[in-house]
Amino acid sequence: MIFDLAGALQRLAGDDRPLEVEVGCGRGHFAVAQAQAQRDRLIVACELKSDRCRSTADRAARAGVDNVLVVKTRGEELLPQLRSQSVAVVHIYFPDPWPKTRHRRRRLFRWDHLLAMVEALELGGEIRFVTDFADYGLQARVLTALYPQLRTERQSTFDARTLSRYGPRLEALGKTIVHLTATRIALGTEDDAERGLMNMLCGSAHRQAQQQQ
Ligand SMILES: C[S@@+](CC[C@H](N)C(=O)[O-])C[C@H]1O[C@@H](n2cnc3c(N)ncnc32)[C@H](O)[C@@H]1O
Repeated sequence: MIFDLAGALQRLAGDDRPLEVEVGCGRGHFAVAQAQAQRDRLIVACELKSDRCRSTADRAARAGVDNVLVVKTRGEELLPQLRSQSVAVVHIYFPDPWPKTRHRRRRLFRWDHLLAMVEALELGGEIRFVTDFADYGLQARVLTALYPQLRTERQSTFDARTLSRYGPRLEALGKTIVHLTATRIALGTEDDAERGLMNMLCGSAHRQAQQQQ
């Protein structure tokens, strides 16, 4: 079954399982494998394209898992609607890279979307991000490093080859794959003040950059 955003939010309201969210799940290779590995969690598989949502739902049915919620929507629409501190992991693997400078504003991993991801993450929750575009990896590293509520690691404990059908192909082509794990951490009062300042500065810098593009 495929849900629209409103339907998915209704379903989520009545479900208190720990959540993992994959944004841009493609045909669901990872989401379904993760649902098999984490039976007590609900895996929200968010995807823009109808045919890919259908493939994900069919894959979940074939695998016999009932803990995948396929949502046909944009990640940037879903993320701000999720309950605060309700998500254990946000997975973003090989998102559309939008390599042309004039298209970079379309990237999913931007400051405003990152704010929504962090708000949705529980303490200790993680954003896991993988790309084969070096400058997109750098963008994600800079944004997460600027965010005091996140501790960022470049090395990850997850293996890109198992995350996506793109992983093995890109590795075979000798492409460098950038991994990033950003973990939500607790802050003291001083850090909260720093966070407020950082949000204000980075938010306004981000808006200015957007306007100039
Ligand atoms: C390059 S594919 C990667 C798919 C999958 N993560 C993988 O690694 O096999 C990117 C996917 O993200 C979807 N997508 C792009 N922008 C999106 C957005 N804003 N919200 C949700 N899905 C999006 C695309 O339709 C596509 O299926």
